Amino acid sequence: MKAAIYKKYGSPEVIELVEREKPAPKSNEVLVRIKASSVTRADTMMRQGQPKFGRLFLGLLKPKNTSLGTGFSGVVESVGSEVTQFKIGDAVFGEKLFSNGCNAEYVCIADNLVLDIKPNTLSHAEAAPVCDGFLTSYNFLKDIADVKPGQHVLINGASGSLGSAAVQLAKVMGAKVTGVCSTKNVSFVKSIGADEVVDYKNEDCTNSQIKYDIIYDSVGTLSFKSCKNIVTQKGIFMTPVLSFGIVWHSIVNSKKVKFAATGMKKTEDLKRLFSDLVHFFRQGKLRTTIDKKYSLSDLIHAHHYLETGRKVGNIVIFNP
Ligand SMILES: NC(=O)c1ccc[n+]([C@@H]2O[C@H](COP(=O)([O-])OP(=O)(O)OC[C@H]3O[C@@H](n4cnc5c(N)ncnc54)[C@H](OP(=O)(O)O)[C@@H]3O)[C@@H](O)[C@H]2O)c1
Repeated sequence: MKAAIYKKYGSPEVIELVEREKPAPKSNEVLVRIKASSVTRADTMMRQGQPKFGRLFLGLLKPKNTSLGTGFSGVVESVGSEVTQFKIGDAVFGEKLFSNGCNAEYVCIADNLVLDIKPNTLSHAEAAPVCDGFLTSYNFLKDIADVKPGQHVLINGASGSLGSAAVQLAKVMGAKVTGVCSTKNVSFVKSIGADEVVDYKNEDCTNSQIKYDIIYDSVGTLSFKSCKNIVTQKGIFMTPVLSFGIVWHSIVNSKKVKFAATGMKKTEDLKRLFSDLVHFFRQGKLRTTIDKKYSLSDLIHAHHYLETGRKVGNIVIFNP
């Protein structure tokens, strides 16, 4: 089978497409023929070995795990002897977390990990990136902020993968949503449900008279300091983007400032959140936005586009 790998840290050109033996499922695993896989900002950071302290986990001089791609959607081709929840022919989707390997033609995954039957409301391309934007943002909105109906949520980066998921999820949770994006994405952010939109090219959301219960800076371009005056007394500022500032504030002001790495959560918590998402998708309450699709042999171009920081929603790798 074909699989994308990287043997050293660096620009997208370090990515190679290689022939590998098709994996065989262990007794508790399913073998999935991948129809679509995700390419995320986290993938580009792993490929670059950035931030440098991440190399303590990824490998000091070169990546320990050379595979790429965490999210996938596809069809079960075979199952291990102990697997009872899935059968050959099931359309499934999920994520491999840090073990990667989804930018490939096949992947094996244990049946008790983040894996479920794909709702019919989603194509494979729409299902593959769900564990990036939706799972991450749902962790923030549900487990960290516990958004309640009527609360006012400000979402910065509302046109990105995490942001576009957060706008929809906060609406599903009954919140009033203000999204922040640039002029060209205003109509998109309105179309996914934002009640109000701030165009950051013309207006600074941190100068507002409005006070928000929750500020979710999905792209890390704000700071807690700049948002102090627009968050309610009991409100919180949270971001999935790691920086020294956020680490400092989340230590000294832990009730108000929150950072989390969703992929580090316990599997049972991720499965609980994922299961809620599957339910929402089945009900047609959420939709995945796909900006561009690339073939596996075009993964280098996909990484280049990701690095522009301008994508709207998600980009996806498809296998014919
Ligand atoms: N902690 C975790 O668990 C976790 C998990 C996944 C991802 N992440 C991190 O989350 C971050 C966001 O990922 P993503 O995939 O959602 O990003 P993304 O999709 O690549 O973000 C691109 C979007 O951000 C918008 N944007 C750029 N600058 C902006 C600004 N100053 N204000 C408002 N919007 C702006 C762009 O719109 P315009 O072109 O219109 O500006 C574009 O639509 C990344 O840093 C990623 O590493 C963290």
